[in-house]
Amino acid sequence: MNGKAVAKASKAEAELQELLRPGQSIELLKALHILTREGRLNQDSRRKLKQVYHLFQFIEKLLLELPEEGAHASLADHGAGKSYLGFILYDLFFGPRGGGRVYGIETRADLVDKSRALAKQLGFDRMAFLNISAAESADAAELPLQIDVVTALHACDTATDDAIAFGLAKQARFMVLVPCCQAEVAACLRQTKALALTRTPLAELWRHPLHTREIGSQLTNVLRCLYLEAHGYQVTVTELVGWEHSLKNELIIARRTGQRKASAAARLKELLAQFGLASMLETRFPMG
Ligand SMILES: C[S@@+](CC[C@H](N)C(=O)[O-])C[C@H]1O[C@@H](n2cnc3c(N)ncnc32)[C@H](O)[C@@H]1O
Repeated sequence: MNGKAVAKASKAEAELQELLRPGQSIELLKALHILTREGRLNQDSRRKLKQVYHLFQFIEKLLLELPEEGAHASLADHGAGKSYLGFILYDLFFGPRGGGRVYGIETRADLVDKSRALAKQLGFDRMAFLNISAAESADAAELPLQIDVVTALHACDTATDDAIAFGLAKQARFMVLVPCCQAEVAACLRQTKALALTRTPLAELWRHPLHTREIGSQLTNVLRCLYLEAHGYQVTVTELVGWEHSLKNELIIARRTGQRKASAAARLKELLAQFGLASMLETRFPMG
C-alpha cells in the first residue's frame, strides 16, 4: 500500500471505530450489509446506520423511562422491512440487559424469513417476526395484550395508522412514528373536491392534484396527532435530522398520559368536517 492508500485505510478505520458502540455485534452489521464481509464500512449503508442510531437515541431515552429502565420492555416495530431498527435495538439495548422483547411486523414473507434466520444465527432469541399486516397485528395471538413501545419507521401508506390503532389497543406507553406517504386522505379529498370548492375558498389549498397530495399528507399527520391526543397521549412532532435522503422526516413521538383531551377530539371532528372527510371518523378515527 502506498502512503495515500494507508492514510485512506486508517481514515476508514477511524470512522468505523467512531460509529461502533461498545459491545456491538460486528456479525450483525455484516449481515445487515452495513459492514462489508471484510469488516469495512459500506458507504451506502453507512448512512442507514447513522439514521437508525439517530432514531435509536430517541427510543433509548423512552425505554429508560419504563419500569426497571426498560430492561423487560416489549417493543413492536410495524412495517419492519429488513428490521434494521429492531436488530440494532436488540443488539444495543435489550441484548445486554438480558430481558425485553422485540416484535417485527412485516407483510413481505421473504423479509420475515430473512429476519428470523438472522435472529437465530445471532442468538437474538427474544426477537420474533410476524408475517402479518399492521392492521392484523392488534388481534394476533402471538402478541401480548400489552406492548410498551410501538414503532413504525416509514411504514407504507396507512400502516402508520394501523400501528397507531395497535398502540391504542395495546395501551402502549410510547409510540414513535416516522410516517411515509399516505394516500387515503388525499383520495378522500379528491372525491369531495368539487363540493368543497363550492363551499369554501379554503378548498383552493387542494384544488391542484399536486397540492391535493401535499395537503393530504400534511393533514394526515395533523389528524393523527389530534387522534393520539384525544386518546390520552401527549404528542411531540420534530424533524428527524440526518434523514436528508428522504422528504419523509417527520418524527411523531406520543407519550401515554391517560388524559384524553376533549378539545383535541373536538378539533379533529371539526377538521374532518371542514375538509369533507367526516366519513373517516368511523373508518380511521373512531372515538370509542
Ligand atoms: C419503506 S419500508 C421501511 C422498512 C423499515 N421500517 C426501514 O425503515 O428500514 C416499508 C415496509 O413496510 C412493509 N409494509 C407495507 N405495508 C405494510 C402493512 N400494512 N403492514 C406491515 N408491513 C407493511 C413493506 O413491505 C416494507 O418492508
